[in-house]
Amino acid sequence: MKRLGAAIIGCGSIHGVHADAIVSSELSRLVSVVDIDEKRARASASKYNCRWYVDYRDVLSDDQVDVVHICTPHYLHASMAIEAVRSGKHVLVEKPVAISVSQAQEMAEESKKHGRYIGVCFQNRFNPESQKAKEVIDSGTIGQVKGVKGIVTWFRTREYYTESGWRGRFATEGGGVLINQAIHTLDLMQWLGGGVKAVKGNVATNLLGDVIEVEDTADALLFFKNGARGIFYATNCYVANSPVEIEIVCEKATLRIYDGTLVMEQGGSYQRLVSKGSGETAYKSYWGRSHAILIEEFYKAILSGNPRHIISVEEGMESLKIIDGIYKSSSTGNVININ
Ligand SMILES: NC(=O)c1ccc[n+]([C@@H]2O[C@H](COP(=O)([O-])OP(=O)(O)OC[C@H]3O[C@@H](n4cnc5c(N)ncnc54)[C@H](O)[C@@H]3O)[C@@H](O)[C@H]2O)c1
Repeated sequence: MKRLGAAIIGCGSIHGVHADAIVSSELSRLVSVVDIDEKRARASASKYNCRWYVDYRDVLSDDQVDVVHICTPHYLHASMAIEAVRSGKHVLVEKPVAISVSQAQEMAEESKKHGRYIGVCFQNRFNPESQKAKEVIDSGTIGQVKGVKGIVTWFRTREYYTESGWRGRFATEGGGVLINQAIHTLDLMQWLGGGVKAVKGNVATNLLGDVIEVEDTADALLFFKNGARGIFYATNCYVANSPVEIEIVCEKATLRIYDGTLVMEQGGSYQRLVSKGSGETAYKSYWGRSHAILIEEFYKAILSGNPRHIISVEEGMESLKIIDGIYKSSSTGNVININ
């Protein structure tokens, strides 16, 4: 079978996760990598034995490239993805899908117009504990969702922001802890809980205000479409990257996701539905291990023409709408309707 040709734009910290997944799959081969920093592009090309460029347009005009992975700073996602689908490429874009809801809407329209997929990297949806929680909730056996809780207590150093200058700025990162770190948790909360209708929230820059202009802490109340209520807290000001906690209270049982496990509490007894997998990851532990699964599913979808397992721009946009609502609520004090 012909392997699909892939190119990666952006050879920074996340790109190795994509490159490793592409080269170890039987569905894909890495044709080229791109970075405006020539040293990074060269180093990646020599490691993965592929071509390198400093101008991403060179991969858009290459017939051997079927899929473009966008691993660049947030403000570039929308324009690069739109140019890529216009050039006939499928696109896998790192989170966030874009830095504004309107940009994401344009991406969705262009994807449809040109008949090319755009998938979004919310790899944590493919974690076994997330998949199992979704299956149990959707089966209806534990009743309706009543409440959803999400807690992210992480830390990011000064150097994290100063070494990649696009971070910490609204124009280039699009926000702080909400759009960069906690967006995975917001995505899981809205996916598992059944979609968010309105939000009330607050943002603050508590620790590194001399380095960043974006928020490092946020909290919110989420009003779900099905009547459930959610609470959410996220900060980059802690001293460790603690495991994210997600709790889903349903009519007949409560599900808890924590550190790779899923536990169901029902009538005072606890059942472990998913245990933590063994072994180390070669990457940062808080990135999780499911990028390779998400990437493989994206390639399978292209080859089969069935996008069921692609996280579409429309879906990827839901967490952006929540974030946009939290900012608006924080500045006005109002509940903001987002859907
Ligand atoms: N899914 C996850 O868990 C996860 C984890 C980390 C990062 N990410 C996402 O991946 C993306 C990249 O993050 P990172 O941490 O790798 O950032 P980074 O700063 O380490 O790397 C970004 C790279 O893009 C390059 N670049 C900038 N402008 C470019 C252009 N015009 N053309 C080509 N290359 C360009 C930079 O030179 C840099 O090498 C972000 O969207 C981030 O949110 C996702």
